[in-house]
Order: sequence, then structure tokens, then C-alpha cells
Amino acid sequence: MSPDIAFNAFVVRNDDQGFRSGIESWRMHQLPEGDVTIRVHYSGVNYKDGLASTPKGKIVRRYPFIPGIDFAGTVVESSHPSFKEGDEVLCTGYETGVSHEGGYSQYTRTNGDWLLHLPEGLTLKEAMGIGTAGFTAALSIVSLIQNGISPGDGPVLVTGATGGVGSFAVSILSKLGFHVSASTGKASAQGEWLRSLGARHVITREEINEETKGVLSTEKWAAVIDPVGGSQLSGLLKHMKYNGAIALSGLTGGGNFDTTVYPFILRGVKLLGIDSVYCPMDLRKEIWGKLAGAWKPDSALQSGIHVHSLEELPALFTDILNGRAAGRSIIAL
Ligand SMILES: NC(=O)c1ccc[n+]([C@@H]2O[C@H](COP(=O)([O-])OP(=O)(O)OC[C@H]3O[C@@H](n4cnc5c(N)ncnc54)[C@H](OP(=O)(O)O)[C@@H]3O)[C@@H](O)[C@H]2O)c1
Repeated sequence: MSPDIAFNAFVVRNDDQGFRSGIESWRMHQLPEGDVTIRVHYSGVNYKDGLASTPKGKIVRRYPFIPGIDFAGTVVESSHPSFKEGDEVLCTGYETGVSHEGGYSQYTRTNGDWLLHLPEGLTLKEAMGIGTAGFTAALSIVSLIQNGISPGDGPVLVTGATGGVGSFAVSILSKLGFHVSASTGKASAQGEWLRSLGARHVITREEINEETKGVLSTEKWAAVIDPVGGSQLSGLLKHMKYNGAIALSGLTGGGNFDTTVYPFILRGVKLLGIDSVYCPMDLRKEIWGKLAGAWKPDSALQSGIHVHSLEELPALFTDILNGRAAGRSIIAL
């Protein structure tokens, strides 16, 4: 493609004129090196993208920069052996939107080793509707299942349930037959929606945060999908059933928590770390195959996806950083 072709991108800058962001016209030659060039159709709005839009977020490693940690689109040029012009592809994680230009751009150029072919059973819009958040929800569920959790074990709690990871976790778990309890800070506004995604019970964040005396308490949860972290996790650990497991993926509630050894040594509780960014490619392909097939999160895809334009990004970042977003927002390029 001609290096002079112009296109729109959302760019963050941090220089002697200060930190700022907005839509700019860029040209192909300004894109980073890579063996596949893609016409981006959709890019997701994730909590990490919100952090990338602020100078204190410590996500972006160099400026000027195009954020957007995930995207789906069509290959326009490729020297990578696995991809050719016209292929539909998706990308989440690796260096995308962190140290390599991301998805908030009509064109992007990337490392073909970070791309997947769009699995049969998903459209580009559905793939980005699921995006990093839905993929992380599925990765969390895979980890719970690998650690012996099954629907017969009892209630599974999803924290931050109206968020991207949370809403897709509720949708997939209920499809797989788990008894899902959803905890949220928006129980009155979004409780009905969470039930429509498949939650059997909706619990307020305050209820989950109630102080419990002692090192252990009533056994409530067979498993927890936790994209919230923070001090709330200290209380959740006390309420795990024998041999229960927590899949921990996020920190919207904070980066620190206190605990004792007792849930681990007296109840065999497992705390499972979830990382979607460097998830090995074989597992990625397997999980996207599930998301396109038996695990397809139909309820979340039908009612949890909001399509926006590049111009709306600053308002969307404000909402997601303040815990006001519900479901997944995607940008149509
Ligand atoms: N490990 C990984 O690979 C990976 C991948 C994706 C995301 N993440 C992380 O997972 C987290 C969620 O990401 P997301 O894209 O789903 O974000 P999101 O859409 O903003 O969802 C986060 C949810 O957390 C809840 N929340 C917000 N502030 C809170 C607070 N102060 N205390 C308690 N709950 C709060 C809110 O849900 P309610 O109002 O319903 O409570 C909010 O909707 C982020 O920390 C993100 O960085 C990690």
C-alpha cells in the first residue's frame, strides 16, 4: 500500500506541550514495523485503554502513540506465512496498545505472530464484542475447570459483574450450567440485566464487602471469578468452600489485599492468577474456538455490546475509569 495513504487514528501525546489526546490524520509510513497490515473494523474499550488515556496510567511506553489493546479487521498486506490479503483476523494482548500501536486507528500494522484467524462462528463485530474482556472471562473459566470446579460444586461468584470481564463471565458460566451469583455496585440499575445474562442471584458490592471477624467464615462459594481484586478479596477468601478456587484477573478495586494462610491450608483454597496478555497461542486458539462454538456468550453479545465512534473515546474512558461502564463498548472504525 502507498506509504502516503491517510487515515484517522486516536493519538495520545506527551511532550513539552503537556499530555493530550485526540483524533489525527496519520499516514501509512507512520505506523510501526510489522509483517501484517490490517484495515481495522472494530477495537474494544478496556479498563487498560482507559489507563492508557491518562498520564498516571503507566500503560503507554512511548509517545506519540495509538492505544487500543485489541482489534478485529481485514488483512490488506502481509509477508507473514500464515496470513494473506483479505483474511479476517483478531488480536488481543502482547504489546498491542502498550508499546506497539493499537486498534484505535483505521489501519494498523502488527506482528503476525500476535494474530489469530477469525474463528468460524463469529463475525468481526462479535469477536471484538467479546474482545480482551470476554477472552479473559473464558480463560478464567478454563482455569477453574482445570482446577476441578464443576457445576455441581455450588455457587460461583462473579465480582464486578456489570463490567466487561464480569458480564461475559456471567454469560458463559450460566450457559455451561453453573449456578452464578453476580456481585455489583450497580444492583438497582443493572440487576435485571445481570439476571437476563444468566445470574441466579444479584448481590450488592456492600454485601460482599461486609466485615467478617476471624480467619475463616461460612463456606459460600465453590469458585469466584474476580476482576476486582483489592480488599474485597480478603473477605472472599474466608468464604470459600473446601477445595474452592478464585480466578483473579484484575484490580478495579485496588492492587493490594490482606489474607492469612488459613483458607489455603485448612480448606485447600486455590488462588489462580489469570493473564490474557501473554497467554500461549495454542491455548488462545482453543479458547477462541470455544467462544465461537459451545461457549458462545449469546446473552452478553445480544444485550451487552455498545457501538461507538472514535470521537466518543474520551467520554468512554472517563466512564470505564470511574466504574460507570456496563457491558462492553466497541469502536467502529
Ligand atoms: N489479567 C488480564 O489479562 C486482564 C484482562 C482483561 C482485564 N483485566 C483487568 O480486569 C479488570 C476489569 O476489566 P474490564 O475491562 O472488565 O473493566 P470494566 O468493564 O471497567 O469492569 C470493571 C468492573 O469492576 C467494578 N468496579 C469498578 N470500580 C470498582 C471499585 N472501586 N470497587 C469494586 N468494584 C469496582 C465495576 O463493576 P460493578 O459496578 O458491576 O461492581 C466495573 O464495571 C481491570 O482491572 C482490567 O485491567 C485483566
